[in-house]
Amino acid sequence: MKILVTGGLGFIGSHTVVELQNEGYQVVIVDDCSNADEKVLAGITAITGKEPVFEKIDLREKEAVGALFERHSDIAGVIHFAASKAVGESVEKPLLYYENNIGSLVYVLKALVKKEKASFIFSSSCTVYGQADAMPITENAPIKPAESPYGKTKQMGEEVISDICKVSPNLQAIALRYFNPMGAHPSVEIGELPVGVPQNLVPFITQTGIGIREGLSVFGNDYPTEDGTCVRDYIHVVDLAKAHVVALQRLLHGKNEKNYEVFNVGTGKGSSVMEVIRSFERVSGKNLNYKIVDRRPGDVIEAFADTTKANEVLGWKAQSSLDEAMRSAWEWEQKVRS
Ligand code: WQD
Repeated sequence: MKILVTGGLGFIGSHTVVELQNEGYQVVIVDDCSNADEKVLAGITAITGKEPVFEKIDLREKEAVGALFERHSDIAGVIHFAASKAVGESVEKPLLYYENNIGSLVYVLKALVKKEKASFIFSSSCTVYGQADAMPITENAPIKPAESPYGKTKQMGEEVISDICKVSPNLQAIALRYFNPMGAHPSVEIGELPVGVPQNLVPFITQTGIGIREGLSVFGNDYPTEDGTCVRDYIHVVDLAKAHVVALQRLLHGKNEKNYEVFNVGTGKGSSVMEVIRSFERVSGKNLNYKIVDRRPGDVIEAFADTTKANEVLGWKAQSSLDEAMRSAWEWEQKVRS
């Protein structure tokens, strides 16, 4: 079966392509390479022994999207990762975010609903919950006003899909709400490649460990948490990638109960920033240089998933511990810099 993976050269996309190919799917990657490197293709090929088809396309170009679906008229499903993802940048360039994240989504769905039957997996985010009232967060937690245009595009994206599913019984869709992905493939052939100064905690830690950054700034230690630092649910990217495959299979095999469903994808375990630092120190054997600074505007205090629905309905469960995920992130960092 042929599966289209948009943003398939990105961090989560590339790991998902590997898992799809391992399961025997034929993959077509679409990426505009605006935040990804074509070399990732070689990494995927080295792991799976199979080079995916690659189409360099900007999904904001409506005609190009239509032509893509005509060229690959036998596509059974789409996993849609392609999107801009920097929270800060989205505040400065909202138009870019609405065009990239909503415009492209609309064009892909427009092409997809013309098919007799189509399966669609959407890359959503725990960011849709904002600061949830209760932990762990279930899928029924209310959607809070988003802090940034990026967050709004994920909320809107879900609504766009839900609205289209109501009138398109041929379209089956699942939105996966990711918590905090980290780590790299155990082969160390693919991993996270942040452009410029990393905004996310884990790549900042590993870059500090390797000496590219002088020290980590811990954004606040006066939060109402056990050690005062923010709590998140860090999930190994390979576990996350596997969740996409099982979600897609649910749709392809007609196992879904509704034609639009939502699942949290996390480990269910919250870890504080200090715990993440300690994990790095354990797996690397290094002391991390860090200092406590002011809180970062827009940060929620804590967010970790209730994964009961994904565990029971999808039959999927995250396997890796924080230390295992950190070890892979650290091995990747060392490889990239060697
Ligand atoms: C984690 C924790 C920071 C950097 C991001 C996206 C969000 C979502 C999940 C994707 C926080 C602290 C960080 C640093 C620090 N999903 N931190 N020093 O904010 O949970 O959310 O991933 O779409 O949309 O924004 O992740 O890695 O930025 O931060 O102390 O230099 O680490 O305050 O508590 P976040 P993050």
